[in-house]
Amino acid sequence: MESTNTKSVKVGELDFPPRKVWMKTYGCQMNYHDSERIVSHLSNLNFTLTDEKTEADLVIFNTCAVRDLANQKFYSALGETKHIRENPVIDPETGLKKDVIIAAGGCIAQTEGKDLVKKYKQLDFAFGTDVIDNIGEMVYRAYAGEKKFTVTTWDKSDNYSIETKITPGTPMAFVNIIKGCDKFCSYCIVPFTRGREKSRRLHEVVTDVRRLVEYSGIQEVTLLGQNVNSFGKDNGESLAMLIQELDQINGLQRLRYTTSHPYDVTDELVAIHGSAKKLVNHLHLPVQSGSNTVLQRMLREYTIEHYLTLLAKMRKANPEIIITTDMIAGFPNETEEEHHATMDLLDKAQFDFIYGYTYSPRKGTKATRINDVLTDDIRLRRLKEIQDKQMKIQASLRGEMIGKTYRVLVEDKNISKGVMKWSGRTSCHRLVHFEGDIPDKNYQWHWVDVEITSVTALSTQGKLITDFGKILP
Ligand code: SAM
Ligand code: SF4
Ligand code: F3S
Repeated sequence: MESTNTKSVKVGELDFPPRKVWMKTYGCQMNYHDSERIVSHLSNLNFTLTDEKTEADLVIFNTCAVRDLANQKFYSALGETKHIRENPVIDPETGLKKDVIIAAGGCIAQTEGKDLVKKYKQLDFAFGTDVIDNIGEMVYRAYAGEKKFTVTTWDKSDNYSIETKITPGTPMAFVNIIKGCDKFCSYCIVPFTRGREKSRRLHEVVTDVRRLVEYSGIQEVTLLGQNVNSFGKDNGESLAMLIQELDQINGLQRLRYTTSHPYDVTDELVAIHGSAKKLVNHLHLPVQSGSNTVLQRMLREYTIEHYLTLLAKMRKANPEIIITTDMIAGFPNETEEEHHATMDLLDKAQFDFIYGYTYSPRKGTKATRINDVLTDDIRLRRLKEIQDKQMKIQASLRGEMIGKTYRVLVEDKNISKGVMKWSGRTSCHRLVHFEGDIPDKNYQWHWVDVEITSVTALSTQGKLITDFGKILP
């Protein structure tokens, strides 16, 4: 690639003047991180990100297929882009019609890419989840005049090797350590949209994180994968071994990982929660249901007894640990008794937060073969019962925070009832709001100590005790 220091960048045969990309991302943290990678790759073609769709030269949807709602949101947003073709945007600088390119990537595009390109006239190309790092080539093809193509190939190489891309200016980074999922839970589309599991090598991840900490000012790292507990299985490596190595990196303050599958949580991993100084006081461990018979039909490979034993071991290894989970209400033919087993689990497990969903049938998954008699109303009622009960548990758990001081990494600010509040997360991933002690001072990315003064089930307010600035002493 040839780059000039003037406004345009020459790549191959084409000139790329400065252009704007607008992106809409749906779904999980992996998808959000893929979008981060996409933006980073596109900077090589002179693109910068814009929040204004009307400014965009390139519109990209990074899609999610996990539940029907996610699909519907994307189809309706894509439908709205029809007007870009019918009433093209006029470039304010040149007064000429802007030739906006529209693309769809991610999990829906992986399985439906060809159909989408055929069905939606305005869609120029579609790309799957395993070709994110080739986005530059695809955008080049589109600017070279090629339209209506789809790239959904799987990477066939033995190794999964990448360098992490970050959003400059933040001390937080997502680091992919494993891609794909081999679990095939009976309700889940992800193994079809993300392909087979493949891990990066441990030494590559360690070198990558060391580089991020030393050269890019990264202080908090979240290790990502649909099932991070399978990391390294094929290479004689493990998540626990990786955490142990990363824990040695000077300057790294916090280490998180997500998502974990209960079946693969080893004693070695439990022990590391007691010993690794940088590993946060939080574990997201999706349980999905409190009923053993439902878990069997979900093909989750563990029992509630096993799950509760794991929680007890984790809490013994690190008494400060906070557990969050995912729950699906109304799995096909779930009985009232099975639903009540989930309600009982809430008491036993004392989760700090639940991401609750009603079951959504996904084409091609095993659960769709069950002759389901439940209605949407039943599913919604059960989800509401789960959430109502959880809110009470949550409020009580968070009440225990009052009067205690927590270390917070400040992320954002917002105005609430006319007062400017800053917010950030504790090691245990609870969101804390506080007022700064100096008006107009920018606390973003500062480490602060905050004493908790009041809580609700969903929010925590505190008073600033110490501001350490951007680097902890
Ligand atoms: N890999 C993680 C795991 O094993 O739990 C999370 C995968 S998925 C991206 C995130 C959550 O979506 C799941 O934990 C599950 O609760 C929910 N989910 C997946 N498929 C679903 C479906 N068909 N209907 C409703 N919720 C679903
Ligand atoms: Fe889906 Fe199960 Fe894989 Fe999680 S572990 S991504 S729920 S198939
Ligand atoms: Fe959705 Fe794909 Fe993530 S289906 S939840 S974006 S892996």
